Amino acid sequence: MSYSQKMKILTGNSNKELSNKISKNLKNKLVNTSIRKFADGEIYIEINENIRGNSIFIIQSVSSPANDNLMELLLCIDALKRSSAKNITTVIPYFGYARQDRKVVPRTSISAKLVSNLITNAGADRVVTVDLHAGQIQGFFDIPVDNLFATPIFAKHIKRKIKSNNIICVAPDVGGVERARALGKKLDVGLAIVDKRRPSPGKSQVMNVIGNVKNKICILTDDIIDSGGTIVNAADALLKRGANEVHVYATHGVFSGDAVKKIKNSKIKNLVITDSIDSSDKLKKVRNIEVLSISILLAEAIKRISNSTSVSDLFK
Ligand code: R5P
Repeated sequence: MSYSQKMKILTGNSNKELSNKISKNLKNKLVNTSIRKFADGEIYIEINENIRGNSIFIIQSVSSPANDNLMELLLCIDALKRSSAKNITTVIPYFGYARQDRKVVPRTSISAKLVSNLITNAGADRVVTVDLHAGQIQGFFDIPVDNLFATPIFAKHIKRKIKSNNIICVAPDVGGVERARALGKKLDVGLAIVDKRRPSPGKSQVMNVIGNVKNKICILTDDIIDSGGTIVNAADALLKRGANEVHVYATHGVFSGDAVKKIKNSKIKNLVITDSIDSSDKLKKVRNIEVLSISILLAEAIKRISNSTSVSDLFK
């Protein structure tokens, strides 16, 4: 039996456009599901077809409204488990709640660990995600986690669009060094690091830039763009230190508050994000933001998991 007969894909409401693309790519229809809300906001899920004995892939990002989308994901897992699915893989293109991955001050929660527990305890057998905020979050799970990377998609785009041998990759903070180094390696260019501090949550301040960016084309790369403060401030600091241009490549476009406006009015030449979060409404008529799809990457990973072949080979 081929993978497409044994496996089925189900989508939550967070990013139906991405799910449709994945389903089209795999030539595998989405499972017929009803997801509704009661008047008090409780979520109700019903699977309208037999899935007994099937391997199911649920596609759902934990993006805004994060609590609703997370609850939808958990209820889908529960419904599938109670409907005798053979195994359940949660495909979470954007793994929200990941930024609280340790106690930075006393008496706070570690939401990344709690969300990992919730997903596992609901009955998931495996997690597939893209550019986890911190790779070590994989260790919060005792089930397999495949953390995919957008780096190859970005590298291909940069090679096609920016014809220069004067490029440098820049991490917007210390936490992003590994990601920027990986992209730099693919492009065979050097690395600079922005020394960012957070005086208070949601505010970022550039203290210094480590490395020489003078007359360079800077490729600033990050996992998440939320308020936009990190990349806009980093771009200003790089240009102040003599960089010629700043291009931004980031995986998850959260774009909260006036982030899009901030980026539109910034000195960033071009910003490229993926469709891990559906931001199409926010990005209408914005010229310096381009969206690349991760649908083929996710479809390929799903295919490989179904066929029990290597997922890591995708990144060799
Ligand atoms: C932080 O560690 C993340 O990697 C991002 O840099 C951060 O979440 C971006 O947030 P904002 O756009 O609000 O500055």
